[in-house]
Amino acid sequence: MSRYAEVYDRWLKDPEGFWAEAARDISWYKLWDKVIDPYAGQYGRWFEGAECNTAYNCLDRHVEAGRGDQKALIYDSPVTQTQRSYTYAELTNEVATISAILTDLGVGKGDRVLIYMPMIAEAVMAMLACARIGAVHSVVFGGFASSELATRINDAKPVAVLSASCGIETARVIPYKPLLDKAIELSEHKPSACLILQRPQAEATLIAGRDHDWAQLVAAAKAVGRKSGCVPVAATDPLYILYTSGTTGQPKGVLRDNGGHMVALKWTMPNLYDIKPGEVFWAASDVGWVVGHSYICYGPLLHGATTVVYEGKPVGTPDAGAFWRMISEHKISVLFTAPTAFRAIKKEDPNGEFIGKYDMSCLRTLFLAGERADPETIKWAEAKLKVPVVDHWWQTETGWAIAGNPVGLGLLPVKYGSPTVPMPGYKVDVLDDKGNPVGANTSGTLAIKLPMPPGCLPTLWNNDERMRKSYLADFAGYYSTSDAGYKDEDGYVYVMARTDDVINVAGHRLSTGQMEEVVAQHKDVAECAVIGVADQMKGQMPAGFVVLNAGVSRDPKEIESEVVKLVRDVIGPVAAFKNVMIVKRLPKTRSGKILRGTMRQIADGESWKMPATIDDPAIMGEITEVMQSRGLASNQA
Ligand code: COA
Ligand code: AMP
Repeated sequence: MSRYAEVYDRWLKDPEGFWAEAARDISWYKLWDKVIDPYAGQYGRWFEGAECNTAYNCLDRHVEAGRGDQKALIYDSPVTQTQRSYTYAELTNEVATISAILTDLGVGKGDRVLIYMPMIAEAVMAMLACARIGAVHSVVFGGFASSELATRINDAKPVAVLSASCGIETARVIPYKPLLDKAIELSEHKPSACLILQRPQAEATLIAGRDHDWAQLVAAAKAVGRKSGCVPVAATDPLYILYTSGTTGQPKGVLRDNGGHMVALKWTMPNLYDIKPGEVFWAASDVGWVVGHSYICYGPLLHGATTVVYEGKPVGTPDAGAFWRMISEHKISVLFTAPTAFRAIKKEDPNGEFIGKYDMSCLRTLFLAGERADPETIKWAEAKLKVPVVDHWWQTETGWAIAGNPVGLGLLPVKYGSPTVPMPGYKVDVLDDKGNPVGANTSGTLAIKLPMPPGCLPTLWNNDERMRKSYLADFAGYYSTSDAGYKDEDGYVYVMARTDDVINVAGHRLSTGQMEEVVAQHKDVAECAVIGVADQMKGQMPAGFVVLNAGVSRDPKEIESEVVKLVRDVIGPVAAFKNVMIVKRLPKTRSGKILRGTMRQIADGESWKMPATIDDPAIMGEITEVMQSRGLASNQA
């Protein structure tokens, strides 16, 4: 029997009491004046008046409690054939040393530090080192190119950048340093110092006066025992900024605070994920994404569990048994990844033959998030792994699950296609266009009744106005998730589609609007539209439709590959932008709006209706023909 209903009800009746009780699991330098100040910030601020330190709660606290010799972090890198682990005492020591180096480089409380690193243990150390001294980190995913990095440098204005000489994508070495150098060249703001971890696969050239060798500074600091203590910060002070896509080319700087974030993540470890201190929790994601922030770095360490940093892929490093090797070798209790990773494994090993080669009796639960978990993938994982498979729904903005199946409170019945029920803290309503809640099984915008729970974004970095416009203005008293869906008669939530231009490619959040801005920069492009089309493996893939300027007579194939290269150079390989089609015209309404929704329906082979407002219906036929020539619009033939 699940305790979910009782716990959710307890929260609903007394939210402040609920979160005050959860906050007891965190160590504070000073307790709060108010659990929530409803008048502060954009919709209220949690734990006002309290003082704390996130790194202290992740590290020193466990050492003091006797967990010093327990593994805190396991680094496993099939791409470099390396495995290493750090105990809580060792990780604390490494982090305290890096904090001291940051201080020496001029980083102080409230200063921003940009982290652009591959999936190595030092990436997590870098995040914790910032937290330790009250600096605000901003991690940028390695698959973003220089100009995306430059946009973030300009917005966050970091005092220092922490990076590595290269990343490794399966067998390909990607030099990071040239990308970083170009980004700093492009950006108006110039960080005063860069700390570069040299990796033997591609050593970087260091720029005198600005760049510092990570290993050398660490060795020098250790030689003299230089370490930094934990700096108390306000619970409401920022811990990090994580940029995410949406609506325009300018990414949104999602801000996370210290106090509420710790309270929420700590609550999820036993109650949602059913993990005990000392057990191994593996989020197979990347520190560049929110899942990596919450569940590679902070959540497991706040709980005294062991976390895993995996520098590899679900397939190809070396095979589709990579995840099972990890689970059996490191005695992983809970795995968390994106459905796309399982689709990739299933494609290579449909019968799950690799699974039989490993002892996976330690695995209790698989959690999936980042995109809609299609029932086929869930059923395959359930059948092959023989453990509960839990889909849960969240966003960069929330930092933790809005809806899920709380395993620690007792598993609720699974309904395929639904991430189950709202977590305590979230009252999820389905709203019509006017902001009125609709009944069961009726679609609308999924919205969260304000205030958002602890851990959710208090605002966007330096941009309260955009916070209000993007999330709070559409429906009074609510945060709009920009996800559309419905709730059924049992209160189960169904998340069906985004209401904005965001698409989800291999669990990575991308903006088609941003891609359009880049494609439009090509000298031969008159206008364009980018849509997300269904993809069996990655969930969605972007597809670009381009109208050329009058008089352009070059080889269309050449222009297409230039456009692909442009998006890769400006946004980065992560955009997975590979499909461009040159068309004569784009379908538009009489008022000139491109009919992207109908284009997507056609591309996905769904049934569609000719929009009443279309300017020229003949264009739909032209577009369909072009799509079919590229293997899209399969049901339309
Ligand atoms: N640094 C540099 N390049 C990167 C990168 C990084 N950190 N991460 C990805 N890329 C590159 C890839 O090499 C690929 O380049 P290519 O076009 O030259 O092949 C491109 O960006 C697209 O990456 P991706 O969409 O991830 O495709 P993939 O084929 O490399 O991998 C999956 C597909 C499904 C195996 C992989 O995306 C995956 O494991 N996803 C699930 C886990 C996850 O990351 N979830 C995120 C949120 S939970
Ligand atoms: P991100 O901010 O990268 O975590 O992406 C958030 C978006 O991914 C959400 O707004 C949803 O559109 C989608 N998403 C994440 N998890 C799920 C899920 N479990 N089911 C459906 N969509 C999801």
